[in-house]
Amino acid sequence: MYQDRIKPRSLWAKVVTPEEAALHIKDGMTVGMSGFTRAGEAKAVPMALAERGRRENFKISLLTGASLGNDLDKTLAEANVLARRMPFQADPALRKRINAGEVMFVDQHLSETVEMIRSRQLGPIDVAIIEAVMIKEDGSIVPTTSVGNSATFAMLAEKVIVEINMTLSPDLEGMHDIYIPTRRPFRGPIPITNPRDRAGMPSIPLDPSRIAAVVISAKQDSCSNIAPPDDETKAIARHLSDFLGNEVAKARLSTSLAPLQAGIGSIANAVMHGFIDTDFHDLTMYSEVLQDSTFDLFDAGKLTFASGSSLTLSQERNAQVFADFSRYKNRLVLRPQEISNHPEVIRRLGLIAINTALEADIYGNVNSTHVMGSQMMNGIGGSGDFARNAYLSVFVTKSTAKDGRISSIVPFVSHVDHCEHDVDLIITEQGLADLRGLAPRERAKTVLANCIHPDYRDIIGDYMRDAERTVGGQTPHILERAFEMHMAYRDHGDMRQVGLDRAAAAE
Ligand code: COA
Repeated sequence: MYQDRIKPRSLWAKVVTPEEAALHIKDGMTVGMSGFTRAGEAKAVPMALAERGRRENFKISLLTGASLGNDLDKTLAEANVLARRMPFQADPALRKRINAGEVMFVDQHLSETVEMIRSRQLGPIDVAIIEAVMIKEDGSIVPTTSVGNSATFAMLAEKVIVEINMTLSPDLEGMHDIYIPTRRPFRGPIPITNPRDRAGMPSIPLDPSRIAAVVISAKQDSCSNIAPPDDETKAIARHLSDFLGNEVAKARLSTSLAPLQAGIGSIANAVMHGFIDTDFHDLTMYSEVLQDSTFDLFDAGKLTFASGSSLTLSQERNAQVFADFSRYKNRLVLRPQEISNHPEVIRRLGLIAINTALEADIYGNVNSTHVMGSQMMNGIGGSGDFARNAYLSVFVTKSTAKDGRISSIVPFVSHVDHCEHDVDLIITEQGLADLRGLAPRERAKTVLANCIHPDYRDIIGDYMRDAERTVGGQTPHILERAFEMHMAYRDHGDMRQVGLDRAAAAE
């Protein structure tokens, strides 16, 4: 009975169909929607909106926590209702429209979006659509599998539409910790000194009179589709755990390390999974997305507590975790993404942050977002929030992509998300480069010696030698050749063909 999930009786009369609720959204509006990395997105109303978009001409700006599941970004993009999208996405159909210049995508540090809305640097939110397991007596709403930006969207929007998801148990109440930083200039410190700390409330405070419509939905989160660990990601995990073992031996870390953050995707998930086969214990996570590996580590007795902003699980893990939720509930907390990713807390806790690079360069700059410098992949997500502020900022990547035709280590990245100053370790399956305390010329040498695939060692080694000899400087680069490998891929479909054009020109 959905009435059990809507405690204020006054709201029963506001239960409408998704199509009726979607009518609150008009051309030119800004919509703030729940959803973070395929978890906890409102499902029924955006589908009804897309359906209307196929018949009517209107466009909206859509803000979320991060990427959406249930093909929502795809469906909304294909219905041509998106004018602007912020702050993250990971959908091929939307990506195509972004790269065609049809949807304006604002790629933002995930901790920043709601700060900018609150300070009115970004325009107001007209309608918030928030998925919830229930609306409590006082009107406050209990979110589902993510918190993301939902609390601020709901608190600041002109109108709020709540989608009650009947597939999730009300037992989720108590897993969330909704803390909103106080107003400047009177803002105090965020009271989190341990990943376990709770600073806020279990639900999103909301005056029920601001709820314009309630929709009942019965659709589950779509499951994550990350690839299982393979030989290369297992090797990356091994290099990291050997390095951390050494740090413990040198008394820089204890055997429970420091709170761990792991980024999205197959590689970061595999690296976290790798902690199962180590001697580290009593680990904690202060992360953003909690993937399958979090629960693998709980089950292996390695992890004692995990703080995040969403639960993004495979189909199998999802079924198991929610069938047995009481087993995990007191070891989990989901927070707003501005808190899970807050620079103040990240710096205070001293995280080990593990994120994935598309490509990294010999000096330690990292590109996480743009293929060949121009084409958006997903977005920076939270990687920048963590990389700049972590105790140890680790970037992992396989040394090659596309069957070896692309080297993930290049002389100069074709787009910079994380600059050399924010990157401590680069790890590929080939090995690990510890860049701490090294000058650029030293960094290049350690990256060359440890991270580069054998097919590319001579190519990059030659570039470094020529750059040092002919140009020199603090960070030697030959401007005419810095992107030669990228151009070889563009022109010949393989970065290994790098010498061809120069040889031809020399003849
Ligand atoms: N050039 C071009 N394409 C590359 C590439 C490169 N240097 N390196 C990898 N790729 C391609 C892969 O071939 C793969 O393509 P496919 O989808 O067609 O198979 C795709 O990028 C994903 O790479 P994969 O090796 O499967 O890694 P992943 O699933 O771990 O994702 C990122 C890697 C970088 C795309 C992903 O981690 C990301 O979007 N990161 C940015 C956001 C972030 O870090 N958030 C963290 C905070 S939660």
